[in-house]
Amino acid sequence: MKYWILGAGGQLGQAVCQYCAEEKIPFVGSTRAQADITDLEQLKRLGDQFSPTHLINCAAYPNVDGAEANIEKAYGVNAIGTENVGIVGRELGIKVVHVSTDYVFDGEKDSPYLETDRPNPIGVYGKSKLEGEQRLLEQLGTACIVRTSWIFGQRGRNFISSILARMQTEEHIQADTDQINRATFNSDLAHALIDLSCHSGIFHFANGKPSTRYEIVKDFYDLAMKRNLTVKCQKISPVSIPSPIRPKYSALDTKKVSLALGRKPRVWETVLGDYFDAHF
Ligand SMILES: NC(=O)c1ccc[n+]([C@@H]2O[C@H](COP(=O)([O-])OP(=O)(O)OC[C@H]3O[C@@H](n4cnc5c(N)ncnc54)[C@H](OP(=O)(O)O)[C@@H]3O)[C@@H](O)[C@H]2O)c1
Repeated sequence: MKYWILGAGGQLGQAVCQYCAEEKIPFVGSTRAQADITDLEQLKRLGDQFSPTHLINCAAYPNVDGAEANIEKAYGVNAIGTENVGIVGRELGIKVVHVSTDYVFDGEKDSPYLETDRPNPIGVYGKSKLEGEQRLLEQLGTACIVRTSWIFGQRGRNFISSILARMQTEEHIQADTDQINRATFNSDLAHALIDLSCHSGIFHFANGKPSTRYEIVKDFYDLAMKRNLTVKCQKISPVSIPSPIRPKYSALDTKKVSLALGRKPRVWETVLGDYFDAHF
């Protein structure tokens, strides 16, 4: 058994590599500089060199606003790059797990999205990710696609790490109430990706309860206060920042993944506590 982790320099890719190292699972991690998923010939060469049994694709262009201005780049990485991963997986005859997003949905539902719900992305990022899912499955019908949402964790830049940094420097922080979603701890997702690597089909994975960014930031702030952390921030207030390119409701239903894993994703209070234990 040997895992090949693509996008190993990103916040999720690093967490997957760390999980493999901790669990003594043989793996090789490739950053963009080492393996560019838009370069099919390079991927094929590296695949032959590494001879993996499993591939986890964490490589993506996940910049939601940037994708609107860089459509070619978003499709190049998220759609064609993902197809390349499928081609290489098929030629090597290995299991592929690919990470996708809740942004494939339009947000018009008001209950958590099931794997069987019809995708209808509203922004370029979501559209390019959906095309990536489709191209991957055309190349490799046995692939496993794991859609997730609002990843945060020990590494990388995400909205929680930026809010925590702002809490140290700003007295008043505003956080938006226009999107409802479930936050996902990168190390929990990393564990799930490895465990799902014997499965095929689409799964939804997320930790938190459906919340707005404002509610999440409040939870962080309240826990910081409870743990007597020194922060400059005195006040968190809700603000409306509607976005035409983000679904207003995209909480993912996780019943299917819970059955496959034999466990439910850990609850918000537990992952929040773990995050603080590791950070402060
Ligand atoms: N972040 C979220 O809240 C979120 C939510 C839902 C789904 N997702 C999905 O989760 C996955 C992991 O995202 P993340 O949060 O870990 O993002 P991230 O930290 O930006 O990591 C993405 C990684 O992909 C690499 N990459 C970009 N273009 C590449 C290419 N052509 N070839 C190979 N690698 C390339 C990036 O390298 P450089 O940094 O060098 O460009 C980066 O290391 C993605 O599929 C994303 O769509 C993320």
